[in-house]
Amino acid sequence: MADLQATARAHTNIALIKYWGKKDKNLILPMNGSISLTLDKFYTDTTVEYSPSLKKDHFFLNGQNKNDQKLAKFMDIVRQKTGFNSYASINSINHVPTAAGLASSASAYAALSLAATTAANKHYTKTELSRLARRGSGSATRSIFGGFVEWIEGQDDESSYAKPLRVNTDWDIRMIAIVVDSKPKKVSSRSGMQTVVATSPFYKGWVSTANKDLNDIKEALSKNDFQSFGQIAENNSLKMHALNLSATPHFNYFEPESLIAMRVVENLREKKVNCYYTMDAGPNVKVICKNNDLNVILDELCHYFPSDHLLVAAPGPGVKLLDN
Ligand code: PMV
Repeated sequence: MADLQATARAHTNIALIKYWGKKDKNLILPMNGSISLTLDKFYTDTTVEYSPSLKKDHFFLNGQNKNDQKLAKFMDIVRQKTGFNSYASINSINHVPTAAGLASSASAYAALSLAATTAANKHYTKTELSRLARRGSGSATRSIFGGFVEWIEGQDDESSYAKPLRVNTDWDIRMIAIVVDSKPKKVSSRSGMQTVVATSPFYKGWVSTANKDLNDIKEALSKNDFQSFGQIAENNSLKMHALNLSATPHFNYFEPESLIAMRVVENLREKKVNCYYTMDAGPNVKVICKNNDLNVILDELCHYFPSDHLLVAAPGPGVKLLDN
């Protein structure tokens, strides 16, 4: 008899080389490979309990019942892959500061992949889990692993998965998430990427330069070259946002405060403080720096943002099981 219940924890990640476009919507195969850093501060705990008496999956997020079609579809994929055919009750708790806008499908689908397969008494390798998590959300592929992670683009379900990057840096890296107040996201990442692939005249240039950025950032990591690393990440992020500005209809994730945060980081660099920014599909700006420079950067940011809107994270671990 299978153990019908399992709980897993996965951390969210910030992309340094972004995934922004699919070549296969059903399998979620990306147009280019990507690189991220898994973060310690923000994570999701998910318990999956199968019950033969259930007639459908039930999903609770932070204690609230949700009707989530995307999640139900994902559970069908889990059932198809594991051959375990019960419906489940799924309880997720997001450990992300309220209103931070950092809640991520990455930690959600990574935790769900491990909990749902383990509860079905299947013991997947991390590579297998990263293929499965990819079917829920592209960025979840990378949250299976800790630290720096590469998502290999691949050509089919088998060949598109993440792996940890073995790096030998002495940076003691930190990321400051600057929480910019915002309304609910105007354009989901799913529809944003669809629009840019279909309409941005710069999309071809994105794919070729993203692949170059990926190789260059790996080289910077292997050479312990923080300055090149930060510049490549910042540039790659701006290129992703430039796609959005050049799409039809155009859209963007910038709020006025996002631009202020970017300018503060650029001004700090002029004063020889080594820091760089990146943004995902939302208005929060993430500043990448070394622990040595953290206080100088926080002191400067405090002039523009309330200190409780500045959240500091360090590299975090990969997905793991928790005792129920
Ligand atoms: O995994 P999704 O569908 O939420 O898309 C993530 C897209 C970005 O966060 C903007 C980039 C990335 O690589 O994580």
